[in-house]
Formats: sequence, structure tokens, C-alpha cells
Amino acid sequence: MKNFINLKDIKVTDLRKIILDARKRKKKRKNFNTLDPDKDNPLKGKLLIQMFEKSSLRTRLSFYLAIKQLGGGALTLRPDELHLAKGGESLSDTAKILSTYGNGFILRTDSDEKLQEFKKYLSIPIINGLSPLSHPTQVLSDIFTVEEIKKQPISKLNICWIGDSNNVLNSLIEASVKFSFNLNIGCPKSYEPKKFIIDWVKKNKKKINIFNDAKKAAMNADVIFSDKVVSLNDNVNKTKKIKDFKNFQINSKLMSVAKKNAIFLHCLPRGPEVSNNVFLGKQSKVWQQALNRVYVQKSILLYCFGKLR
Ligand code: CP
Ligand code: NVA
Repeated sequence: MKNFINLKDIKVTDLRKIILDARKRKKKRKNFNTLDPDKDNPLKGKLLIQMFEKSSLRTRLSFYLAIKQLGGGALTLRPDELHLAKGGESLSDTAKILSTYGNGFILRTDSDEKLQEFKKYLSIPIINGLSPLSHPTQVLSDIFTVEEIKKQPISKLNICWIGDSNNVLNSLIEASVKFSFNLNIGCPKSYEPKKFIIDWVKKNKKKINIFNDAKKAAMNADVIFSDKVVSLNDNVNKTKKIKDFKNFQINSKLMSVAKKNAIFLHCLPRGPEVSNNVFLGKQSKVWQQALNRVYVQKSILLYCFGKLR
């Protein structure tokens, strides 16, 4: 059994295996209905329990489809209906019950410490469905999407992130070290990645490039990523933050400094960080990106359940 909390703690060989498995499984599903299980039914009879302490559309649905396509089932808990959220039951007791009834647990939470606490008491795998510090399932799936579209290993591509230094970027930085790809980050000076993550990159003898100028960051890019300027866990003056990012919008002018065949990716939901015509334009692959989460998360589940070959 394996957990999936942060990309930095997972061996690159395992991350590669997950991507390969997802590629194979996706190919085999042509002409399958959404809920048809894969032929090998590898997680038949298994129950995945999901809990979202914050809003989610994609993560919730894609994990539901992922476990169904592996032959298992899912149950989504509402934290406000549990004893835990109201203080009537300890986290350790809740974790033991989850481990008694279920086979895997997905948690989206406002607290990275809570993920670690659950990990301590669970005897089933835990998957981070987004925390203040990271969004690992999103980013691994995005690497799959990049390689699927570009038909090259990501290490051969110029990857650019324009936007806030948030959980998704932290995971992308971790991925850039694991998969050795060039990462240019464009953001205002006061929104640069935190010291702990820069130090981790240095400790691993790798480098990321930070520009306080969107054009410089996007120059020659094969892929431009972005995300909401104001994240779910952001307790900031939203109007001010959006204003601070006004020169970092991904619009046609910015896309024109990237490579001609550059693609645009965004995990959604979106805000003013991207213009409507880029988001809905030809270079945008956001719908393919969203659907691919189902395929990659299936292989993440298999990795966690010790069933990845
Ligand atoms: N991208 C993503 O994680 O979307 P949700 O917040 O809807 O799950
Ligand atoms: N950075 C965003 C990602 C949403 C999927 C947030 O945390 O709200």
C-alpha cells in the first residue's frame, strides 16, 4: 500500500509507471461506456471514500469515474455530516473507521497537517485531493496531457507557468525536479514561490527560472500553464491581488511570444488570469486536460493499492 500526498516524496520511476499505465489503459477504452469497468477489473469490490472540506467538481467526479472504471465503487462524505467536523469524534477514531469500511481515502483539505494526521492513523492509502501546499494528482495528470499532445517526454519541452505561486505551482515545481524539465515562472515580485520550495529545488541540485515579466517567462514556451489568481485557501484582499496580476494575463498577445504550436493548460476553475479567447481558443487543451484526470487517477489508485505492474 502506498500514499499519494506530495510528488516530491514519490520515486520518479513510480510516477513514470503511473503515466505509462494510464496511457495503456486509456488506449484500451475506445468504445467503452463511461462506467464500464476495464477488462481486467483490477479493483473489483474495493471502496474508495472521498471527503472534500472545500469545493470540488473535477477531482470529485474524476476519482468517482476512476474507481468505477477499475471495478470498484466510491462514497463521498460531507464533512459537515460527520462527528469529526463537529468535534464529537477524534481524527484517529474516524481514521480507524474509514480503514475498517473502506479501501482508500481521498481528502481535500485546508490543512496539510490534517493529511499527515490521517496518514498516521489510517491503514488504507490516503490521496491528497488538494491541500494548501500541493495538488499532486492534478499535476501528474497534466504531465500526461502534455506528453500526449506533444508526443515527446516533458524533459524535452519548455514549460511556463504564469500566475500565482500556489499549491498547483508547488506540485509543478516538484514535478520539474522529478522529471527534469525546464520551468519558467512568470509572476509579480511579491508573489514568487516560497523559500521552502526554492530551497528544496536547490537541495536537489536543480533550477527553476523566475521572471517578474510575463513575456520573458513565456518566450519560446511549448506549454503555458495558469491557475486562478485567488485560490480557495487565500485569505487576501482579492481585489488587490487581482490588480497586482494585471500584467500577467494570458491573452493572445502573450501567447504570440510562445512557440507557434504552444498549448495552453489550466486546471480550472478560471478567473481573469486568462482571456476568454485564449481559454476557448485553438491552443487551449483544457477539456482534454480535465478528462485525462480520470485516466491518470486510475493508475494512481492502482499504485496506491499495490496493483500497478
Ligand atoms: N482542478 C480541480 O481540482 O478542480 P476541482 O476544484 O473542481 O476539483
Ligand atoms: N489553486 C487552486 C486550484 C483549484 C483546483 C485552489 O487551490 O483553489
